[in-house]
Amino acid sequence: MNSNDLNIAIVGATGAAGGTAVKLLLERDHPAEKIRVMASERSAGRKIPYGKAELTVIRAIPEAFEGIDAALFAAGGLVSKRLAHKAVERGVFVIDKGSIFRMDPNIPLVVPEVNSDDIEWHPGIVSTPNCSTTPLVMVLDALRKLSPVKAVTVATYQSTTGTGVAANEELIEQSRAVLTGGEAIPNVYPHIIAFNVIPQVDDFLENGYTKEEQKMLNESRKILHDDHLPISATCVRVPVEISHSESVQIEFESSVSVEDAFRVLDDYDGVRVVDDPGQNQYPMPLEATGKDDVLVGRIRKDIAHDHGLVLWLSCDNLRKGAALNALQIMDEALRRDAFRPAAQRN
Ligand SMILES: NC(=O)c1ccc[n+]([C@@H]2O[C@H](COP(=O)([O-])OP(=O)(O)OC[C@H]3O[C@@H](n4cnc5c(N)ncnc54)[C@H](OP(=O)(O)O)[C@@H]3O)[C@@H](O)[C@H]2O)c1
Repeated sequence: MNSNDLNIAIVGATGAAGGTAVKLLLERDHPAEKIRVMASERSAGRKIPYGKAELTVIRAIPEAFEGIDAALFAAGGLVSKRLAHKAVERGVFVIDKGSIFRMDPNIPLVVPEVNSDDIEWHPGIVSTPNCSTTPLVMVLDALRKLSPVKAVTVATYQSTTGTGVAANEELIEQSRAVLTGGEAIPNVYPHIIAFNVIPQVDDFLENGYTKEEQKMLNESRKILHDDHLPISATCVRVPVEISHSESVQIEFESSVSVEDAFRVLDDYDGVRVVDDPGQNQYPMPLEATGKDDVLVGRIRKDIAHDHGLVLWLSCDNLRKGAALNALQIMDEALRRDAFRPAAQRN
């Protein structure tokens, strides 16, 4: 079976991540009649342009999954909790983009380049990581081939689409208000995001980190199968529409040369090195947006730590950070003939 033969449901198709999944299906020429777009009652009946065709949004209810082969859930945790298992009961292979199943020990959390074998044991649902975790684990997986990773310190620069459509509209509206002498009013974020940076992504935990920072630690460990890897993250929201960037400091067990790092990163599927300081070439969100690869650059020896490297990355949070990773999981499960839950295949 070819992936274009699949009947695919996108739950949350009017949102930032789900809308990008629709866009990616169009790029793959997936037939319109094999796509079912779902959202809440609010958007039922809305038309989503799809090339020369239009897709009509329907309400996400259990019966809407009849006849579907694979469903991408991008409508938040509550919707996944309510509907994902109902879809699985109807024979659907579910790929969930939200956080609700990520740390469930019975549900694999997958970035195909890193741990595609984990798809094999899924119970009907495969989860995908947070959009800042995905590029980080790809870079760490590439580099750990040179020497085991001892510790990671990362600071993120996360775009507003990472929070969804409403947050991005807030950035645009606030920017317009500031530039025209109007009043910028925060709604989605606790502070004004236009012309500002906010060192808070999600709520704070008792340990002083935010949930987003804790997710980067927990999810990376699960995907990399490394339960003890120390990762200290500081997650920051910046007034950028699309693509997250990260400043990453990595300590290795033994010395790693910049040349070797450059080579293994550039050889890694889904990663592209953009690193020519003499020509002012390095990854930037505007450069990464619309691209499938994680862009990595500014690779250099860490002068503050023995056996350390420092680098910078940018990654389209809506593509590899969300929709593309989900579609790649679908492709990989299809290739392995592993759509049905593991218990039904053995
Ligand atoms: N944005 C990213 O970069 C990114 C990356 C990785 C993962 N994710 C995950 O993807 C999910 C969606 O995020 P987003 O950024 O795309 O948010 P968003 O832009 O706010 O979109 C939310 C989507 O969920 C739908 N929805 C809301 N309540 C619903 C309900 N009761 N029943 C059915 N559909 C409902 C909305 O439909 P209506 O039009 O009806 O409101 C909309 O399509 C989240 O779980 C998020 O963690 C996002």
